[in-house]
Amino acid sequence: MNQNETPLFDTLLHHATRKPIQFHIPGHKHGRGMDSRFRSFVGDQALSLDLINIAPLDDLHHPTGAIKRAQELAAQAFGADYTYFSVQGTSTAIMAMVLSTVGPGDKILVPRNVHKSVLTAIILADAQPIFLLPEVDARFGISHGLSVEVVTDALVAHPDARALVVINPTYFGISANLERIVDVAHSYGVPVLVDEAHGVHTGFHSALPLSAMQAGADMAATSVHKLGGSMTGSSVLNIREGMIDPRHVQVVMSMLTTTSTSYLLLASLDVARKELAAHGHERISKAIDLALQARHRLNEVPGLVCLDESCLNSSATFALDPTKLTISVKDLGVTGYDVERMLRENYNIEVELSDLYNVLCIISWGDEQADIDALVHALTEIAHAYQDRQGKREVVVQLPSMPELRMSPRSAFYAKTEIVPLQASVGRTMAEMVMVYPPGIPILLPGEVITQDNIDYIEANLRAGLPVQGPDDPEIRLIKVVCNES
Ligand SMILES: Cc1ncc(COP(=O)(O)O)c(C=O)c1O
Repeated sequence: MNQNETPLFDTLLHHATRKPIQFHIPGHKHGRGMDSRFRSFVGDQALSLDLINIAPLDDLHHPTGAIKRAQELAAQAFGADYTYFSVQGTSTAIMAMVLSTVGPGDKILVPRNVHKSVLTAIILADAQPIFLLPEVDARFGISHGLSVEVVTDALVAHPDARALVVINPTYFGISANLERIVDVAHSYGVPVLVDEAHGVHTGFHSALPLSAMQAGADMAATSVHKLGGSMTGSSVLNIREGMIDPRHVQVVMSMLTTTSTSYLLLASLDVARKELAAHGHERISKAIDLALQARHRLNEVPGLVCLDESCLNSSATFALDPTKLTISVKDLGVTGYDVERMLRENYNIEVELSDLYNVLCIISWGDEQADIDALVHALTEIAHAYQDRQGKREVVVQLPSMPELRMSPRSAFYAKTEIVPLQASVGRTMAEMVMVYPPGIPILLPGEVITQDNIDYIEANLRAGLPVQGPDDPEIRLIKVVCNES
């Protein structure tokens, strides 16, 4: 196969050039039926590719032509046996991994710091999550990956588990020793499902941690849109045959996916795969160089500390993707969210996320030296302004302990519920999710027992102005708990 081919993009271009008279959806018909300001901004060329699954363009739900060929090329590039495209992000690919491997009552081993899509799928499947404790980094106030020991202990205790979920790398770029974890899980006959939302590029550069497919995992849900150069919402699900039935996964993926596929997203996956395969190494080298340089310059600024190799001191922190620039600002006596706002309001800079201690900046090959200079300049000015301020307050994050799971997440989600003030909910069983988004890791989820330290952590995030969400009450003063408990 020739990785320079882009069969799907070429098919769409050829079709658009023919300018057929369209008696099919989308009803805007090449943009002619659209708001003119939007049309002229987006452009007729882009709108001419906003097509639908008519016969010449193949069908994502039953691919036999250009989509099939594009998926085969992607499988080869990612080192997978099969690759399925997702036009609903990695969230849907994750749900397909979980729903195709576990059913009602089945045990699934899951790190507690997973994305909400894993937990949503567990609720839908009525599976039994066995939560594993990721390593917690008190200095940065974040969770890392799973250690081989934690995974081994869980498999000894639950050899009947039907799947293991691993986040690799984490949002902050930390990879676990995935190869060893896969070996251990496979020795128990347990397939490994990898949330690779933040690792699309890893398999294309030897200085980066191994990709899920390189490490021998069975499935990986991979956000091409996050760091691989495709459009927002386009991801892939990579599959290794053996413990997984690819046809069944495809059926589940189709069950979860809209029948109105975006061909713009599909085409962007096709060309992003070509770019990664043909030029990935060189592009990623550029991103790594920029990130290392930014890291070095920021570490020289008093009050700023970047997450770096020094955190790699256990089997849960095996390797680091340097293009994730996690900058701790807590020594300045301000929260990460304060700095996110200062960067927005005073420097016109937007970061990926912030939390109580850190801001996370994602460096890609789309960045230029001038962007890095602007970030370093802005953070240096902020650090100088706050470093020696009188009456500096200390920012302390008390990370909550892992909550006890009292009921299955599905039973709690569908239980009879009542609304109570958050402050008066200690000891009750949660019936909804609460998370800060991003990163979208639930602080509490249905079935878990609410503790005071969970409430304190939610309150601390709300006070800092961070985007806490999930419950029916958008202000999170009230939450839904399960009724009739003893
Ligand atoms: C760790 C992790 N997994 C999964 C997802 C979901 O990815 P997507 O936004 O492509 O649906 C995210 C999104 O931020 C994430 O951070």
